[in-house]
Amino acid sequence: MNKESKDYSKYFDFSNAKVISEDEQGKRIRINGREINIISEPNQRQEKQRGKQDIQVHYDQAVTEELKDLGVGKKYIIYTFGCQMNEHDSETMSGLLEQMGYEKTEDRKQADIILLNTCAIRENAEDKVFGELGHLKTLKLQRPGLILGVCGCMSQEENVVNRIMQKHQFVDIVFGTHNIHRLPVLIRDALFNKEMVVEVWSKEGDIIENLPKKREGMRAWVNIMYGCDKFCTYCIVPYTRGKERSRRPEDVIAEVRDLARQGFKEITLLGQNVNAYGKDFADITYSFGDLMDEIRTIDVPRIRFTTSHPRDFDDRLIEVLAKRGNLVEHIHLPVQSGSTEILKKMSRKYDRERFLELAFKIKQAIPDVVFTTDIIVGFPGETDEQFEETMSLVREVEFDFAYTFIYSPREGTPAAGMEDNVPMEVKKERLQRLNALLQEQSRRSNERLMDQVVEVLVEGESKNNPDILSARTRTNKLVHFAGPASLIGQIVHVKITDIMSYYIKGVLVTEPMQMTS
Ligand code: 5AD
Ligand code: SF4
Repeated sequence: MNKESKDYSKYFDFSNAKVISEDEQGKRIRINGREINIISEPNQRQEKQRGKQDIQVHYDQAVTEELKDLGVGKKYIIYTFGCQMNEHDSETMSGLLEQMGYEKTEDRKQADIILLNTCAIRENAEDKVFGELGHLKTLKLQRPGLILGVCGCMSQEENVVNRIMQKHQFVDIVFGTHNIHRLPVLIRDALFNKEMVVEVWSKEGDIIENLPKKREGMRAWVNIMYGCDKFCTYCIVPYTRGKERSRRPEDVIAEVRDLARQGFKEITLLGQNVNAYGKDFADITYSFGDLMDEIRTIDVPRIRFTTSHPRDFDDRLIEVLAKRGNLVEHIHLPVQSGSTEILKKMSRKYDRERFLELAFKIKQAIPDVVFTTDIIVGFPGETDEQFEETMSLVREVEFDFAYTFIYSPREGTPAAGMEDNVPMEVKKERLQRLNALLQEQSRRSNERLMDQVVEVLVEGESKNNPDILSARTRTNKLVHFAGPASLIGQIVHVKITDIMSYYIKGVLVTEPMQMTS
């Protein structure tokens, strides 16, 4: 257990909480003078359960007539922490707010509503949110009419919601990952009743289609499934995101077709474990490979997906990915550790050998594939030898890039109760060595591109120099080159001239010379 994070009990002094009323609609309580309407609270025991009931799909409108004008003349900001799933959820919330009449602003002093879409994956992600809440308190004191909302994965945690009710009473709305579509109603309640509204569903709900989404730029995310049933021992996601539920293929395909019509150049299919797509369908046999095989025929230049679990990566998917075209030759395949014993303690359901076999099989089918991964160092009890196995696996697979993390205990997960005798200094040193190796490998892989002509999607001007454009290869490498802003959103060819630490430099080639993809 490390520092105060593991012991929130000191925030749970509900002796001063008074129940005002309680019925099937929820519970109204008063704590230190603040009225709180708890429509529903998170409960980790329930979050862990996996019910057998079928998932229904709803196509109703979330913003009804009575909610349509609530935000007219008002402004909103959403601060998003965490993964692409959260980024995409924020696009849905923006869509809902804009249907209510709210307009986006970059200036928090002008905002009438501020939402923090939070991440629970590691402790530092949570610390950032509580830090941000501290800043927002000052703003709320200056402008009491401001509505402050906390949502996302942290809201699914009991200890977080209790801490907010006790210590951050200036918050107006708390809602979770399963009831985003309820945002308009919760805003209405907070506005009219002047009380804190807490509505977090412990059980995942049904699938809600047709929610508005405010997308920007030329790249779009599309959810294909929600939730995770893997229960890796370190991970909070199966609790915060509920059980695996796949969207119907026809709904996913219709959304991708529509985005293609709108001119989006790249689509990333999203899910906590996309390879489990379709396993929950009772009426049809349809896998992620089948979905990819249909989507690749849609006229979008690039299709990506994230994130995949090695255990469910089947031959059908490899066969479809090998057809290439708009299916890019980049696979993000989180390995977490190179040690079979640690993988077992993590309950990853594959071992080192099976992972290597899978990577080899994919490389045979797609010889120029670029692998990226996620790695956790310093899992409870990880020995020097076990860490060295991670280093050697990174070399063997030749990962180009990895998101690397020091293990962070998450309350309520099995690993949080495991004995951990590895000092933090050792974990930090391992992380540094791993990152140095990855940097070296990434440079070597980039050097192989020297003098080649590659296809890039131009995303925008580079941050520091408006004359330089910033673009990505099919394998997601960052390329900078000089060119006119009119190329933004286009796919062009660039000849690679220099390899820098974090990006590659190139020059624009008007006539494609030699294609790498
Ligand atoms: N500690 C550190 N890293 C974690 N991840 C998930 N849970 C934890 C944790 N408790 C990492 C995994 C996962 C990525 C999204 O975050 O590597 O793939
Ligand atoms: Fe995404 Fe997981 Fe963080 Fe939730 S906890 S935002 S699913 S990374």
